[in-house]
Order: sequence, then C-alpha cells, then structure tokens
Amino acid sequence: MESIVIGADHGGYLLKEKVKAYLVKKGYTVTDVGTTSEGSVDYPDFAARVVRAIQKKRAELGVLICGTGIGMAITANKFKGIRAAVVHDAYTAAMSRRHNNANVITFGGRVVGVGVAFSILDAWLGNHFEGGRHTRRLNKIEAIEEKANEFVII
Ligand code: RB5
Repeated sequence: MESIVIGADHGGYLLKEKVKAYLVKKGYTVTDVGTTSEGSVDYPDFAARVVRAIQKKRAELGVLICGTGIGMAITANKFKGIRAAVVHDAYTAAMSRRHNNANVITFGGRVVGVGVAFSILDAWLGNHFEGGRHTRRLNKIEAIEEKANEFVII
C-alpha cells in the first residue's frame, strides 16, 4: 500500500481530518503536515510541505484540500515531478491516475462532502497508470518542465 502525505488550509481542515481517519482505517500510512485548526493560513505553505515530502521520497502520494482545491493544485504543479490534479468526482479521480499518473490529488472542502471525498479516494487509489501512449504524453510534459525557463516571450 502506498504511503500518503496529506495537507490542508483552513478551508480543507475539517475534511482533512475525516479523510485522514478514513485512509488510516483502510491501512495506509498517512503523514499529516497540517494545518491543525480552522484558523486562517496560506494554502501554498501546506502544498509545499506535501510536495516536498514526495520529492524527498518520504511519501509516494499526496492529498491536498483547500476551499476549492484550485490554489493547492496551482501551487503543487510548480514543483518538479509533481502531477497534481483537481478532482471533484470519482471519474476524474480514476482518470487522473490511469491517464495522468497524478501523484497528488486536490479537492475542495467547500465543494465536496465527506461521502464524495471517500469515493474520490477509493477511485484514485484503486486505479493505476496505464502507461503506453500516456507515457509519451507525460514525457512531453516533463520536457516542457525542463525547458520552460528557457522560453523568452517578446
Ligand atoms: C481560502 O479562503 C481559499 O482561497 C483557499 O482555501 C482555496 O480555495 C484557494 O484556492
């Protein structure tokens, strides 16, 4: 079973607690990097903690929850080797794994309820990358990542 690192801001805190308990009950090793209350914090700080844990191989997969999932995904995708997908239903969660090999999923504590969040996790963790033509596409994303800083827009 994969090891999972989880983080949230104040908009995702309550759902994070429920998601964490659900994953632990399912037998996953879960590292919680905060936040630890509903007090206002900045989501990039927690996205950075989660993706750094993955980059340093302290965990294989990450879950990030803010109000909408959007700010967490924007932040996480700034980091090399991170493929973060905003998912708000089981179908997109499954496809994010099968086609995009998403190593991080993000969703919104103000968007999805607990039941939908659990179905997202089941779909994401229960599916696997299909490889094949999708590997070619991910390689192109990686090449863009490598070259992005070389582009000069006039
Ligand atoms: C915080 O109010 C909110 O902006 C944040 O949780 C998230 O939704 C940002 O994308």
